[in-house]
Amino acid sequence: MASVTTGQVQQSGRTPLIAGNWKMNFDHLQAIAFVQKLAWSLKDAGHDFGAVEVAVFPPFTDLRSVQTLVSADKLPIVYGSQDVSQYAPGAYTGDIAAAFLAQLDCTYAIIGHSERRTLFGDTDEIVAAKTAAAVASGLTPLICVGETADDLEQHGASAVPVAQLNAVLDAIPAGTDFVVAYEPVWAIGSGQAATPDQAQQVAAALRTAIADRKGDEAASATRILYGGSVKAENIAGFMRQPDVDGALVGGASLDVDGFSAIVRYQKHVGV
Ligand code: PGA
Repeated sequence: MASVTTGQVQQSGRTPLIAGNWKMNFDHLQAIAFVQKLAWSLKDAGHDFGAVEVAVFPPFTDLRSVQTLVSADKLPIVYGSQDVSQYAPGAYTGDIAAAFLAQLDCTYAIIGHSERRTLFGDTDEIVAAKTAAAVASGLTPLICVGETADDLEQHGASAVPVAQLNAVLDAIPAGTDFVVAYEPVWAIGSGQAATPDQAQQVAAALRTAIADRKGDEAASATRILYGGSVKAENIAGFMRQPDVDGALVGGASLDVDGFSAIVRYQKHVGV
């Protein structure tokens, strides 16, 4: 189950994923302009989309426009939602069903982002229910876990993220793909990223938790991302870690040049 590293090249067999979480930024017109520019910029730079997958997570209102653009221009960029309802379609005013997102060709749904947990009351139980709903509609859940500064002080780095992950793993049927994002709450939007060593330590603990519940094969196939103040200047250090398979990028995903540079981390010195 452990990743094999040869020098500094990751040989895990997992395709790295660089994911841009736009949060509540960009209306649908800005979304179209951004995705067009991102695709051009990466194509111009000769980016190999098979080697490093690129995903964007626009607000719900942008998804139809992004779908239309991606499908009309056959762009090699995938996309997903920032949240999903735990309910099937019905009388749930304001919610968005996973089935609707699947109809828009979303690949992923972010679930349990710390902003949903702290600002909108998403408990571990709700995160598990949303994950089950996403999986039932064929979306790949991108499950966020992470500790607060207080948790870090009281329990160390891994305890809370591992507990949050364990609370959701039973909602994922055997053989179903999912992605985990380790995002320390204290690192999100703070400009103070975790160190690559810290990210590796927690990513390894999360992989062990997956192995315990889902088996070694699932653990070695599951991508674990780091998120929290990732930028072009620090991405290479994270990607050098054997258990870190990509990044969930917030603020820095809103700038085409900065995000392209993160996607192309392999061109940075030392990776
Ligand atoms: P940040 O956000 O990159 O702005 O720290 C990450 C996230 O919240 O997913």
